[in-house]
Amino acid sequence: MIKYKTLTEFVIERQTEFKYATGDLTAILRDIAIAAKVVNRETNRAGLGEDILGAHGNTNVQGEEQQKLDVYADNAFIQVFKSGGEICGIGSEENDDYMPFTSEISKSGKYVVLFDPLDGSSNIDVNVSIGTIFSIYRRKSETGTQANLEDMLQKGADQVAAGYVIYGSSTMLVYTTGHGVNGFTLEPSIGEFCLSHPDMQIPENGKIYSMNEGNIKRSSKGVQEYINYCQEIDKATKRPYSGRYIGSLVADFHRNLIKGGIYIYPATDAAPNGKLRLLYECNPLAFIAEQAGGLASTGEKRIMDIDPKELHQRVPFFVGSKNMVAKAMEFIQQHDLVNSNN
Ligand code: AHG
Ligand code: MN
Ligand code: MN
Repeated sequence: MIKYKTLTEFVIERQTEFKYATGDLTAILRDIAIAAKVVNRETNRAGLGEDILGAHGNTNVQGEEQQKLDVYADNAFIQVFKSGGEICGIGSEENDDYMPFTSEISKSGKYVVLFDPLDGSSNIDVNVSIGTIFSIYRRKSETGTQANLEDMLQKGADQVAAGYVIYGSSTMLVYTTGHGVNGFTLEPSIGEFCLSHPDMQIPENGKIYSMNEGNIKRSSKGVQEYINYCQEIDKATKRPYSGRYIGSLVADFHRNLIKGGIYIYPATDAAPNGKLRLLYECNPLAFIAEQAGGLASTGEKRIMDIDPKELHQRVPFFVGSKNMVAKAMEFIQQHDLVNSNN
């Protein structure tokens, strides 16, 4: 019999790497894994019934049409966080405002979670990989009180753990506590996430660029010139690179993490701050990218150094292989920042 190392075994084994080794992280990750399995089950049968597939009928605070699975996943994660006792409040992409938990046990929780319950949800109907992204912080407010906005608006550099689940051809959970990145594949026959990708490292160079090129004419000169560079023929640097864009951030990020590549969602004329959300998408993936040896930037500054001003704040996002992100930055510095600083 093959002996798998389960997520729970692994987290317990590495518990001392977590800053405040009290077992809380083990419990939080256990809860995330439970909700992920529930969402995975629904995702897997998404073609089978009108109760799962399609639009929910609401528009979220971001102005995006909510899918039924967005709402389902949001509720599934909120439920486990509420009942776990380690979390005092959450912020979710699908809720207008943050949500402090009011029970006595939750108020004594030391952590908050910011999350994107279902990423890439416009792809559900067409059977393309989707995901969940999460970010865990130590609360700033006093234990025993209700969580407040200050607990939610923390810098990415203060994350104590972050990760994502990808519901793909297999289902994986990838996370970091600031001591490298490890990936676990759901073994469906035993219903456990098992260590499959220990110590993940993103190649320093890659041959994939991922951007919605439909936006290229609305993008800055620096972005346009960098994409031109990716498409140029140059044997020494193995260009042209391949363009790969799934349209599910988690799936695009995960592929580039394994194969090497850069993902770009820039500022455009139509979306001057880009599309992706700092707290639910960019910070957690930036933490993972850096822990795997990569970079994450707005084009101007490190993602994890940004002081969030609002819950649903959006930022331009360049993430992936170190040398590719650095190269993209060169183009931005040369064409955009110079001009905007003059
Ligand atoms: P979400 O489904 O959580 O709203 O996120 C959608 C995001 C992200 O997953 C993806 O990379 C990006 O939107 C795609 O946007 P475009 O369709 O504009 O390329
Ligand atoms: Mn998303
Ligand atoms: Mn989402």
